[in-house]
Amino acid sequence: MTPDLSVSIAGIRLKNPVIAASGTFGYGVEFEDVVHLDRLGGFVVKGLSREPMIGNPPPRLFETAAGMLNSIGLQNVGARAFIEEKLPKLREIKGAVIIANVFGYTREDYEKTIEILNEGEGITAYELNVSCPNTQHGGIQFGSDPRLLDEVVRSSRRFSPRPLIVKLSPNVTSIGQMAHIAQEAGADAISLVNTFVAMSIDVKTRKPRIANVTAGLSGPAIKPIAVRMVYEASKSVQIPVMGMGGISTAADAIEFMLAGASAVQVGTANYWDPRATEKIVGELSRWCAEHEVPRIAELTGALQP
Ligand SMILES: Cc1cc2nc3c(=O)[nH]c(=O)nc-3n(C[C@H](O)[C@H](O)[C@H](O)COP(=O)(O)O)c2cc1C
Repeated sequence: MTPDLSVSIAGIRLKNPVIAASGTFGYGVEFEDVVHLDRLGGFVVKGLSREPMIGNPPPRLFETAAGMLNSIGLQNVGARAFIEEKLPKLREIKGAVIIANVFGYTREDYEKTIEILNEGEGITAYELNVSCPNTQHGGIQFGSDPRLLDEVVRSSRRFSPRPLIVKLSPNVTSIGQMAHIAQEAGADAISLVNTFVAMSIDVKTRKPRIANVTAGLSGPAIKPIAVRMVYEASKSVQIPVMGMGGISTAADAIEFMLAGASAVQVGTANYWDPRATEKIVGELSRWCAEHEVPRIAELTGALQP
């Protein structure tokens, strides 16, 4: 049996549910030599802002038990340079699903960034990053305040002719409430989780491991919390959910799908294995064949009581 791995999310048909997560896969082009980009469900490019950003000072990465802290601070080339310098190369990859991750300090920033990106041909969808924990303003502030979330999603919706995926922060009390707000404000899908606000200290020097002091925790360490949040969010909305947080194997991906995800994203795993996404696609096909699952889409929300 050759299982059907295709899934549909926000009106987009993906050949499989595996998507590379923003910030862990560059602009896609950097992975061209190691991953067949057209064999992935898709990939999300690094968060893009209206103007280029240099990010936070180093050290910005630190490995923790089964995880990683990062405080990159949204370093990126800016939306304009992305469409002029990166997108033409990405367009050459036939069948690639390119999702642009959008970041802003203000609501107007989100609108302007989307306006610039609208000029770029070949972008499949936008993922609105309202959940970055590593900037002084913007990002997570939108994702952790119900009123601000409603406003930024509503206005971005007006500016976006493309499917809009809203990436939620796990640093909230009720993920179900935030998911519902994003849906009501016009999101076509939601994705979660972004990183958890965290901190680590070098006890010898008594200094924080990360220059910005706090940072975002990702990787296998966060997976059980992420699965729980995907489960709660998916019960609160009718729109599709993309799940992520510590996925590095096909079984991890399936766990998120059973919890309610229609597709998954793979982030930190790309750091120790740049081929992780493509490997998971192969593993998923074998897993479905072995477990007699003809269509992977039927696993979404199929958690047994
Ligand atoms: C180094 C690094 C940079 C990231 N940059 C972004 C970003 O620009 N935009 C965004 O929405 N998420 C960003 N993220 C969050 C990831 O996309 C993902 O939500 C998170 O890491 C959880 O998934 P994982 O455990 O598989 O890494 C970043 C994560 C890491 C580790």
